[in-house]
Amino acid sequence: MKRILVTGSYGQIGTELVGALREKYGGDNVIATGRKKPPQVLTEEGPYYHLDILDNTEIHSLLVNHDINIVIHNASVLSAVGEKNPQVAYKTNVEGAYNILEAVRSLGLDQVMIPSSIAAFGPSTPKDNTPNDVIMRPTTMYGVTKVFIELLGEYYTKRFGTDFRSLRYPGIISSEALPGGGTTDYAVEIFYEALKHKKYTCFLAEDAELPMMYMPDCIKSTIDLIEADANALVHRSFNVTAMSFTPAEIAEEIKKHIPEFEITYEPDFRQKIAESWPRSIDDSAARDEWGWNPDYDLSAMVKDMLEKLSKRV
Ligand code: SER
Repeated sequence: MKRILVTGSYGQIGTELVGALREKYGGDNVIATGRKKPPQVLTEEGPYYHLDILDNTEIHSLLVNHDINIVIHNASVLSAVGEKNPQVAYKTNVEGAYNILEAVRSLGLDQVMIPSSIAAFGPSTPKDNTPNDVIMRPTTMYGVTKVFIELLGEYYTKRFGTDFRSLRYPGIISSEALPGGGTTDYAVEIFYEALKHKKYTCFLAEDAELPMMYMPDCIKSTIDLIEADANALVHRSFNVTAMSFTPAEIAEEIKKHIPEFEITYEPDFRQKIAESWPRSIDDSAARDEWGWNPDYDLSAMVKDMLEKLSKRV
């Protein structure tokens, strides 16, 4: 039986991931954790506990007391917030991941999943169809911490036999929780503004193409990788993607549903971050090793987002 603890559970991904995990593995088998008062969706179907990932005593007691065998460590400071406060990003991302890996190793748990990101790539990485195994050298603190996490996790697998797994998520587009301080957040904000005001000022340039994925695919990739047969895994850190688009292209797609919608561009410091990342990534390692296959392309995602959000906004 899987008993899963999720950190960062009220984040953009955590909020929906916890619900999906509870549906699959049973509400009481998925422990949501975080430092804030949780939204109601996290406490309805299962337990929520306070957890500061910098507090090793708290980590160990939760893992032991709740008989956890898998940890999904989602708590992280994202790219844009990380550039505003690199010291906090370092501490949260690096020390937090180390604490989790050490706890999983010392308690002999079955598996640990810690997400990575397209931010792990840098300006010297080939930008189109970026391979899984390629030069990385990121130039943001967020990216530096994600490369560290991948390498440390892979070290733990080789050195201690810890079953570490990681997905290099692209920008994630979600209809439930908002993203918190990333460079790809525009691709979520644009929907709220399109529905509310029929216009949006984008903080990236019109041609800033980035790899992206709709939340249902993000959840699917995460659960598929947790379930993957360890013997079939050649890699431990995987590119995953579903689509790539520019701000101009997503605006065009939204206009098909809201013809009055208008987009303008005022690129800020996040444009430089976007320019340092790939435009598209090659996820054939994920497809070959554990059968990754996304369901949503740009037009299916835009249609579904607008349907879901128009009921609430
Ligand atoms: N969505 C993240 C960010 O923009 C990328 O992993 O920071």
